[in-house]
Amino acid sequence: MKVEFYRHSLDQNDIANVVDVLNSVFLTTGPVTARFEQKFSAYSGLPNVVALNSCTSAMQLALMGLGVGPGDEVITTAMTFIASATSVMHAGATPVLVDVDPATGCIDPAAVEAAITPRTKAILPVHLYGVMCDMRALRTVADRHGLFIVEDCAHCIEGERDGVRPGQLSDAACYSFYATKNLACGEGGAVATRSEELARQVKLLSLHGMSKNAAGRYHGAYQHWDMLTLGWKCNLDDIHSALIVSQLDRLDALWTRRHEIFTRYERAFEGTAAARPAVIGKSAHHLYTIWTAPERRDEVLHALQERGVGVAVNFRAIHLLTYFKDTFRFKPGDFPYAEAIGNKTISLPFYPKMQDCEVDYVAEQVLATI
Ligand SMILES: Cc1ncc(COP(=O)(O)O)c(C=O)c1O
Repeated sequence: MKVEFYRHSLDQNDIANVVDVLNSVFLTTGPVTARFEQKFSAYSGLPNVVALNSCTSAMQLALMGLGVGPGDEVITTAMTFIASATSVMHAGATPVLVDVDPATGCIDPAAVEAAITPRTKAILPVHLYGVMCDMRALRTVADRHGLFIVEDCAHCIEGERDGVRPGQLSDAACYSFYATKNLACGEGGAVATRSEELARQVKLLSLHGMSKNAAGRYHGAYQHWDMLTLGWKCNLDDIHSALIVSQLDRLDALWTRRHEIFTRYERAFEGTAAARPAVIGKSAHHLYTIWTAPERRDEVLHALQERGVGVAVNFRAIHLLTYFKDTFRFKPGDFPYAEAIGNKTISLPFYPKMQDCEVDYVAEQVLATI
């Protein structure tokens, strides 16, 4: 049997929406993107949504829109995808990494507080694999020190913890609609925020700093546009929006199927050598990972591949990657919990299209190789 690591959940309706866009006047940011933004606002409960071309851009522009830039520090985690830290650098600020809760892999609020300096401007927590960070604790730390919070929600649209959903206790929630995400259109992202002013800034920065986008220029009598600030080019076009505008209606049903698969894996691994990270609250169920003995991780990884099981590693701790190590002089042992997870983690196939027999096959192969 061959079980792909990931298969998307697009249906014929999503594809028909793209064809409609291709047959319409607007290919770039227009009415379909506006409809997606409205629907995503309703789903997230956050009044202002700006659709963008990636979560990386979303985090960069949210930070810039809040005035974070050169000379400032932003605290984030060593157990994440590189974009959580590179987006800080693209905003002109310095990422300061801290260690994680060894049970969940999410940023440790006490480590955050210990890393605060007079230059700290913001905290950038990452809801790893779909489990939310302790946002109440992070909010308390942020309030005590007057810091912004920008959430990396690339893994977490549907999650909730302690009655808190993404964006409710922060300045901005940044989402990814990358090819393998819970809501996927190839490349895409969004900033969702309670602040109308921040959304306005992000929109401006996402389109060259221009006062009007193409759709705004097109309707009615021609109006001149102005350039108000130095911006970037990160808007989401209607072709991509067409794939997620209808997919969003199925988001909860897709979550329910992933929850069934999660439960099936958990039953198979209970009481075995396949350890797993803790789940606290409602996970968005983005990735399903197991922990092996660190010295056997790569052997298990390759053995699973040989048995037809698609695998990935999310993530090796980022401070030990060459660029960060060289730039910030990090060394092994700096963030021991993040390193330990990075050395033992394996991500298994985990998507709604998986059949029960495929889940069982993957679990059997894990138990045979671990
Ligand atoms: C935790 C995390 N943050 C940010 C990103 C970046 O998302 P995007 O590819 O939409 O920029 C990813 C993508 O994989 C991610 O896993």
